[in-house]
Amino acid sequence: MNFNVTLIPGDGIGPEIVAEATKVLDRVGKRFGVTFTYKKILMGGCSIDAYGVPLTEEALAIAKASDSVLLGAVGGNVGNSSWYQLPPELRPEAGLLKIRKELGLFANIRPAYLYDELKAACPLNPEIIGDGFDMVIMRELTGGIYFGKRYTEEVDGVMKATDICTYDENEIRRIAVKGFEIARKRKKRVISVDKANVLDTSRLWRKVVEEVAKDYPDVTLSHMLVDNCAMQLVKDPKQFDVILTENMFGDILSDEASMVTGSIGMLSSASLSEGRLGLYEPSHGSAPDIAGKNIANPIATILSAAMMLRYSFDLDEAADAVEAAVKRALKEGYRTADIMSEGCRQVSTTEMGDIIAGFCQ
Ligand code: IPM
Ligand code: MG
Repeated sequence: MNFNVTLIPGDGIGPEIVAEATKVLDRVGKRFGVTFTYKKILMGGCSIDAYGVPLTEEALAIAKASDSVLLGAVGGNVGNSSWYQLPPELRPEAGLLKIRKELGLFANIRPAYLYDELKAACPLNPEIIGDGFDMVIMRELTGGIYFGKRYTEEVDGVMKATDICTYDENEIRRIAVKGFEIARKRKKRVISVDKANVLDTSRLWRKVVEEVAKDYPDVTLSHMLVDNCAMQLVKDPKQFDVILTENMFGDILSDEASMVTGSIGMLSSASLSEGRLGLYEPSHGSAPDIAGKNIANPIATILSAAMMLRYSFDLDEAADAVEAAVKRALKEGYRTADIMSEGCRQVSTTEMGDIIAGFCQ
């Protein structure tokens, strides 16, 4: 069987880490009798440099026609890159928002997991860490304030900016269903996060999530206000299994959750549509400061490729094999610079890719 995969290496360290992920995909594919055909497209700053826009219609059409998309990272240094002198709709991130919307990628899964081997990198106290934690953030990705009307105007000589946050019940229902479904495969606990003490969108969110919960009597639902959730993530991360939340809250909380693990270079993510087509990308950014040095950690991208095998291609065994290979590489003491600790062996981006690919066969 062959799968057509669109590759979006993107900016910064993106090309380096995507190359390692395809190395691993090819190796694991060989073992399980599947092949991958790759088509590269430009998105983000590199597309701006080539075409003046962060994502062309042609590139989008290639992604739409493929079986799945693997993304490195887009964007650069906001402070010193000319990309950020452009109007907002032409900046690198606009390409990402556009592809999410156009591919209907409404469900963003971001696992935050504490690796035993990397406990030392976790910034929390050992008493708080305990036996570790393992949560998933299910973030709504194509609605809410990031996709609402926005405008800046001058009213009576005063500058005024507006961003509108809207959710309809169908948008809430479909992401809630995804949240409960994934909880069923895990510890069966959903914490829905909102700001229902202030926002109408949150009150509707809560109501619809409660309706959906009735179809999942085996899953425990509770609600948490977003400000409290931000606090609980550092106070007691063990309490979380699935965090179900809207777009902006999920954006913020997923960064916090990844930092709490201490190893953002390890965290993968999947953005799913109603169908099989998904977009898989590391949770970290493009890290322009270390681009081209062969020192970036490719593991988050490799684990994102594993999620692709699992969620888009139903190749669970191949996904397991990749995840096991990553664990083995860590266990045997291989580390990229970002997760290096005493007694371990520091390796480059390409070496880490080779090691993991080797353990996949
Ligand atoms: C993320 C990023 C994006 C988002 C930006 C780059 C538009 O922060 O994937 O979390 O906010 O969704
Ligand atoms: Mg973010």
